[in-house]
Formats: sequence, C-alpha cells, structure tokens
Amino acid sequence: MSDFRIGDDDFLLDGQPFRILSGALHYFRVHPDQWRDRIRKARQMGLNTIETYVAWNAHAPREGEFDLSGGLDLGRFLDDVAAEGMHAIVRPGPYICAEWTNGGLPAWLFTSGTVGVRRDEPQYLAAVDAYMRQLAPVLVPRQVDRGGPVILVQIENEYGAYGDDPVYLRKLVELNRDIGLTVPFTSVDQPTPDMLRNGSIPGLHKTASFGSRSLERLATLRQHQPDGPLMCSEFWDGWFDHWGAHHHTTSVAESARDLDDLLGAGASVNIYMFHGGTNAGFTNGANDKGVYQPLVTSYDYDAPLDEAGNPTAKYWAFREVLSRYTALADEDVPAEASDAPVFDARLTSIVPLADVVESLGTWASFDAVPTMEELGRFEGFALYRTEVDEAGPSVLEFAEVRDRALVSLNGAPVGVLARDHHDRSLALPAGARGTLEILLEDQGRVNYGPRIGEAKGLIGPARLNGRPPAQWQAMALDLSDLSAVRDAASAAATETEVLAGPAFGVGEFVRDEPADLFLSTRGWGKGSVWINGVNIGRYWSRGPQHTLYVPAPLVRAGRNEIIVLELQAARTGVEFVARPDLGHTES
Ligand code: GLA
Repeated sequence: MSDFRIGDDDFLLDGQPFRILSGALHYFRVHPDQWRDRIRKARQMGLNTIETYVAWNAHAPREGEFDLSGGLDLGRFLDDVAAEGMHAIVRPGPYICAEWTNGGLPAWLFTSGTVGVRRDEPQYLAAVDAYMRQLAPVLVPRQVDRGGPVILVQIENEYGAYGDDPVYLRKLVELNRDIGLTVPFTSVDQPTPDMLRNGSIPGLHKTASFGSRSLERLATLRQHQPDGPLMCSEFWDGWFDHWGAHHHTTSVAESARDLDDLLGAGASVNIYMFHGGTNAGFTNGANDKGVYQPLVTSYDYDAPLDEAGNPTAKYWAFREVLSRYTALADEDVPAEASDAPVFDARLTSIVPLADVVESLGTWASFDAVPTMEELGRFEGFALYRTEVDEAGPSVLEFAEVRDRALVSLNGAPVGVLARDHHDRSLALPAGARGTLEILLEDQGRVNYGPRIGEAKGLIGPARLNGRPPAQWQAMALDLSDLSAVRDAASAAATETEVLAGPAFGVGEFVRDEPADLFLSTRGWGKGSVWINGVNIGRYWSRGPQHTLYVPAPLVRAGRNEIIVLELQAARTGVEFVARPDLGHTES
C-alpha cells in the first residue's frame, strides 16, 4: 500500500517527490494477449506509468449491458501494469474523444432525443452514474492506497474545448468520490486561457495537452495552476489519419527535443500515444468541422511503438531522452522489428450480399425513412428498399446521408451519395421502375465537437421527384455472426479473379505458427475484413492506409479463414506483405 498525493511542488509517492513518466496505451485498441508485451516495452523505454482511457461505449454496446470480458477486461489490463512494476492513470471519461467512435459515449444514450450530454442534465447524469458504478469494482481496489497501480484519475476530457458547466464537473467529481475513488483527480485542457479556465474546477489539478513549444505551454498552464506539479497529460508525439488525406508523421528529433524541454523544466508527462493500436471493427471516430472526415483503421499515431508493437526510431530517441531523467539498463531493451511472413491466398468463394441479407437481419416497414438507431443497431450497415415507378427522369433526395449510400435499382448500381462530398440527391435512370435499394454505411461517429451523438443512416425527409416514397422496408445488418456467409460460400467456389460488390469473398490460408501479418488491401475498393471471425477493420482504396494489421493472437497454426465484405469491386487475390503501408506522408 502506498500514499500518492499532490504536494506543493511535486507529486508525492509515500512522501517522496515523484515524476510521472507515463505513456498512453488504450487496452481497447490492442489484443489482450499483447498488453503485457506493450507495457513491458514502455517500462524498457524509461516510463514508470501507463495511462488508459475507458471507452464506455465499448463496454456498453447496448443499454443495460456491461462487458468486462476478453479485450475489455480492464482489471486484467491494470493487473498487467502492476505486474510490470508500473503505475496507472485512468481516464474514464465519460467522454474521451480519442478518435474513438462517438468519443466513447454510447449511441443508445441519444435515442431519447432529449438527453443533454456533457452538462448537468438528469438523464445523462443517471446514465453516467450507472456507468461509473459498473467501473467501481474494477478501479477502486486497484488504487495505490489499496496496493494497486492506479495513482490518478482524470475527470472528463478537454472539457474547456466543449463546455463551461462547473456544476456538471462538480457532480462528476462527487460521483467519482462517491463510488470510492480516493486518488487525486486531474483535468486536462489545451493550453489556452479560456479552455484552462472552463475545463476545470477547484479541487481538480489542472494539466495540459500539447505536442510542441513545451516551455511556452507550461508557462500558460502555470498561470492557471499556480501551485503543485506541472503535467502535460497528452504530449502529442504523432497524430491520427483520415481517409483521403495523408499519413501523419512527426520529426523524431523535434519530438524528442520537445520531450526533453518538458522534462528539463521538471514537468511530468503522459506521452500520447506510447502505442496507438488499431480501430478494429467499426470503432473509428470521425471529425466534422464542415467536412466529415472518418478516421482510418490504424491508430499507429507515429508513436514510439508502432501499430504492431515494434520499437521505432522515435522509441530509441525517447529512450535516450528519458535516460537523462531515470536510470535505465543498457541491455534491457526490446527486439527490433522483423519482417512479417509474405505469402498469397485467394478468395475462393464469392457470396453476393443479396444472397444472404435475409440471414443478417429482419426487414421492417416504415412510413418515413428510419435512422439506424430506429433499426436498433448503432454501427455498421443498414439496407433500405422502396418501390418506385416513375415515367420520366427522377431525382432521389435526402436531408442528409450519414455516411455513405450505395444506391441500386433492381440490383443494378445507380450511384453513391457520400457525406464527405455533402451529397444529398441523385438522378435515377429515366423511367425508373422496380425496387430501389440503398446500402448505407455508418463510417464512424464524430468524436469531437457538437456533432457527437447525431443519428446515423438516411436522414429524412426522403423525396422522390419531390414526393415522399409511400413506404420503406429497412433492416440493420448484424455482421457479428457470419455463419450464413460461410454456409453460402461452401456452395459457391469460383475461379474468378474479380469480385463485384457488394459481396462477401471467402478464402483461407495456412500458417505453421501464429505471427503478426500485414494484409495488403491494394486492388480492393472499400469494405471490411474478418480473420477467423474477428473484424480487423475497414479498408478503402482512397488510402492513405493500404495494409491492415492482423495481430498474431488472431492467427492459428493450421487453417485460417478470411472473409472480406467488398462494397465496390476487388481482385480475389489476397496478399500478405512484409511491412505496414500506412500511405503517403505530407512531404
Ligand atoms: C485531444 C484529446 C485526445 C485525442 C487527441 C488527438 O488531446 O484529448 O483524446 O483526441 O486530442 O489525438
């Protein structure tokens, strides 16, 4: 058992000044069998603490559920941190930003239409209360004063960039204390006077988030946090990527210098990210400051450990900086990356989506076009159908498309409505008659700013030549179990070299032993990939990302299954390559 507190000048661990040298590692972005390896490599770089957010919506995909198993076993993660002799910082949100879908807030929270998030509002606070009480048995006994690793808990996240409701912050603090958290609480804000003022209340130790100009930013923070230790709670050493933009990297030398400046000034740090991991499945967030920009699958972040957990040049540079501030043994270092196995496979069966939709959901009828939320799912895909009978030219319109709609008429593609192009209407072939079908993709919920919590799907009113279609049939696709696809695939072997979407391609590959793999997605259009039933994420020919990371624990010795849902068009060849290809950089 130890005592951790905030002193007049320093953090104090059992009465002694303690500098926090922390690295961010999100358990929900890394396979659980790899947690310990990543944590050890953080210690070997010179860090003494691991920081993680808690992604509420990952634990609570539906109202009333709370999952702490497998990759969501936060207790096991914190125990791994402790077993490596490190401390932990936990940031349970409830809002986390983090380029994570909806900034961590569950989509079901918004279905009432009346909830007011991130402020003093009863519906929201009742849900937050239930959430924090689910976390209590995990966090409370793992605090430092109970013999556990947790030394700090952060309240909210960059709240000053969003709101200014001190009553809300006070109620959050009271709730966190009420569930039994006894460690010091912090707030984090970007270092501007307004944000530092609005993002915190007395009793919360203010910290800042930034990735450059360390001394200037610390000076601003000092004006708002006149006493106690200075801490950069998010030292941004890299950045995230959007589809259709470049892959972000930062200069190793500049990042190392900024870290050195920070530590030289006596500050504590949480390096964001130490190891980024992956936005697997449908978990990526998005930005929308006028243009919708969904995040790519990789959360490599140009961090010291790359997406596959290998040390980069930044790792060694940061280790060298940290060695000036903490004792490090020369021989206690991780191995360098080696190339991943290079081999080919093939999608040997093609199953058109239309052949299996009846097994992936249930059609329901609606008078007005429903949102995905009204279809009872909060991620992935939905299908919409309506009957049309137009004599001449016709135009299909929606108020908004969130986020991408593939429109077809009697099974033949007509066009795409893309939210990132602000598309809202489409001309149909003249004399359109028959079944109009729309495959709708939710490309990830906005995680920053006022658009958090917005509904997904086709946003009405819908119009065909200015009139609302009489009726819609719609269903959300449940892609959590692809056994219907497997069953259909066994009867659909093919030699074709191309796959016309929307369709599933099913294949297999054989390995002697599990190993990290990089699946090339060049030559594929847009879609998602499942390895042995696990959705490893989205791909898109737009890039910048052109490989998907397959963590070794997903790969079996022997036969492995690959299923691809291709929305556009793809080759049926499958290529595994030696190294990740996260795409072109700015320069
Ligand atoms: C802010 C947020 C983080 C993350 C970073 C950018 O600092 O607090 O959650 O979104 O920006 O990566």
